[in-house]
Amino acid sequence: MQMEAKDKAYLKELADAVEQHLLGQVQVTPETRRQAAVIEAMRYSLEAGGKRIRPVLVLEFCRICGGTQEQAMAAACAIEMIHTFSLIHDDLPEMDNDDFRRGRPSCHKAFGHAVALQAGDALSVAAFETILKDRCQTPERKIQLLEILANATGAAGMVGGQMMDMAYETRSDVTLEEQLAMCRAKTGALISGACCLGCTAAGGTEEQQELAAQYGEKLGLAFQMVDDILDVTSSTDVLGKPVGSDAEEGKTTFVTLLGLDGARREAARLTAEAEQILQQFPHHAFLTALTQELLTREK
Ligand code: IPE
Ligand code: IPE
Ligand code: MG
Ligand code: MG
Ligand code: MG
Repeated sequence: MQMEAKDKAYLKELADAVEQHLLGQVQVTPETRRQAAVIEAMRYSLEAGGKRIRPVLVLEFCRICGGTQEQAMAAACAIEMIHTFSLIHDDLPEMDNDDFRRGRPSCHKAFGHAVALQAGDALSVAAFETILKDRCQTPERKIQLLEILANATGAAGMVGGQMMDMAYETRSDVTLEEQLAMCRAKTGALISGACCLGCTAAGGTEEQQELAAQYGEKLGLAFQMVDDILDVTSSTDVLGKPVGSDAEEGKTTFVTLLGLDGARREAARLTAEAEQILQQFPHHAFLTALTQELLTREK
């Protein structure tokens, strides 16, 4: 099922709003003119586009939990900064060794390895700074948001998942259970974290938090399954990043474990479960359409 034109237009509206705020946060100013080199590399990777799925999840979970876009914008920018930092480091030769990202040379190809490392590091800190400086939230709420972001990013979340990913590269006996645990961390943590950030930004209930986390975990796994599928079935032109990268690095993926059809079926099953969870929120129509769109996406 294709997303309707009005949903597509709304998605673009949200992504554009995020982009404008993001680039506003990361700018060379008279005070930082001597640090311009790192700020340019951060902007290069941020402005290259990307689907902006995680910030859109923050904005939408805030909305369906009764909050405003203003309340969610800092957290939305923060999660996209963390995600972009993860992609810059993910592409380094020490990790996936990919020279192309978001339709342009990877950050380390454009600026060199040391600058790419620094740009990733600086983005990871800028994410927390963005929430700290937010004028729309109370100090108590900001602490909650920072805690969610820290858990999603660190050793228990994305970074830990990337470690598992690297460790599994040298093994040919990775089990489905291990692969699921790895993807829950490397991809699921930021996606689930995005949903929880939105819910918290709106002051959602405990029950809503729990549902947001569960939805995000299922969507995160389905999202990585589709990413693994596209690495086999798509083209570099469409994806804006190299295809065949997983096979080249000798990775176990959901495709090597389940086969293409098996991975597609599993992604569809998780998507259906995620959509089921959304039913428990009011005003969920757009998020339901987006969840479906992410399953059938071409990039
Ligand atoms: C790529 O994420 C990395 C994964 C977790 C699979 P996205 O597919 O969201 O990348 P962009 O943001 O659109 O470039
Ligand atoms: C990405 O997994 C996970 C993170 C960047 C945290 P992949 O390595 O599959 O992502 P792509 O395919 O390079 O975007
Ligand atoms: Mg990787
Ligand atoms: Mg990669
Ligand atoms: Mg991939």
